[in-house]
Amino acid sequence: EKAGYKHFMAKEIAEQPVVIADALRHYISGGALALPEGLDFTSVDRLTLVACGTASYACLVAKYWFEQIAGLPCEVDIASEFRYREPPLSDRSWALFVSQSGETADTLAALRYASGKVAKVVSVCNVPTSSIARESDLALPILAGVEVGVASTKAFTCQLTVLALMALKAAADRGRLDGPALAAHLADLATLPGLMNHALRLAGDIAHIAEELAEAQDILFLGRGPMFPLAMEGALKLKEISYIHAEGYASGELKHGPIALIDARVPVIVMAPKDTLFEKTVSNMQEVMARHGKVLLISDMAGVQAAGMGCWQTLTLPAAPALLAPILYAIPAQLLAYHTAIAKGTDVDQPRNLAKSVTVE
Ligand code: M6R
Repeated sequence: EKAGYKHFMAKEIAEQPVVIADALRHYISGGALALPEGLDFTSVDRLTLVACGTASYACLVAKYWFEQIAGLPCEVDIASEFRYREPPLSDRSWALFVSQSGETADTLAALRYASGKVAKVVSVCNVPTSSIARESDLALPILAGVEVGVASTKAFTCQLTVLALMALKAAADRGRLDGPALAAHLADLATLPGLMNHALRLAGDIAHIAEELAEAQDILFLGRGPMFPLAMEGALKLKEISYIHAEGYASGELKHGPIALIDARVPVIVMAPKDTLFEKTVSNMQEVMARHGKVLLISDMAGVQAAGMGCWQTLTLPAAPALLAPILYAIPAQLLAYHTAIAKGTDVDQPRNLAKSVTVE
């Protein structure tokens, strides 16, 4: 069942190029978007995205996309807060629920709260027969295949892929993206499986770095823009399976508190493709280095060349279009957690205290 891999998590990480290609084939046809009918964003004035855990980080990345590409205001909430806060919802807005299992109790309760209050309840689930998929007006499967590892990997990148396609559809519906610009984004997305295959080749280097990470008590992840949720995802993954305390922060928040934690024993993992925000993140990284923090810079060739000097370690990913970067950078985040857990000898697929699907509050 593990197809020769030691753990389901390793298998599921490795499967990502294939399942992402499946999802792209399902939702793109003849070079055009083939999303379900009814997914028409023309008169939607606001999107509320709700999820738990890793799925909530997918929502946070999607917020950047919906707002920047489609100009559609978004809010993101974790389901356990949303359901009890009972927020006012407009009947011109849509609510979007993201869940691998489709059975997460808080997410399902949040969906039931939103039903009847918003114009449409949409879900993005991996299990198409799940409660959340069945109870939504429109359900988009992510086509990741069965995910067994408690730490979510391929479901996250498939969620992101489907959310990216939805943001492009929203942009097209709202007149923010003309035909050629949309076609260019779709052509970029077609390169994603190949880029992911490249990223997977970093496994050996990452296993090496992980031996030292396994000695740490605390690890910080930093990112800006859509890399901020990726920093939180990297930290969550590491906590879940290696039991090392880790936090993901927005790079710009560093000097508002967490910088007090930095010393030579705290590895700081900086996720920073060489994009428009790169210089800002690098200056935060230099603040860490000035306090003898051990920086692992994850970037592309241009980024590592520009800022890799003085870092404890660097990892070089292929250069990627901005839309794809958060999906691509999930791979080193997952591999770092996996190999750190291996170095610590923990139970990767069944970490202590955790369940694959949280069906009770
Ligand atoms: O099945 P769901 O996507 O609704 O699950 C949500 C979270 O419980 C889940 O993502 C959890 O955080 C994972 N263990 C993360 O690896």
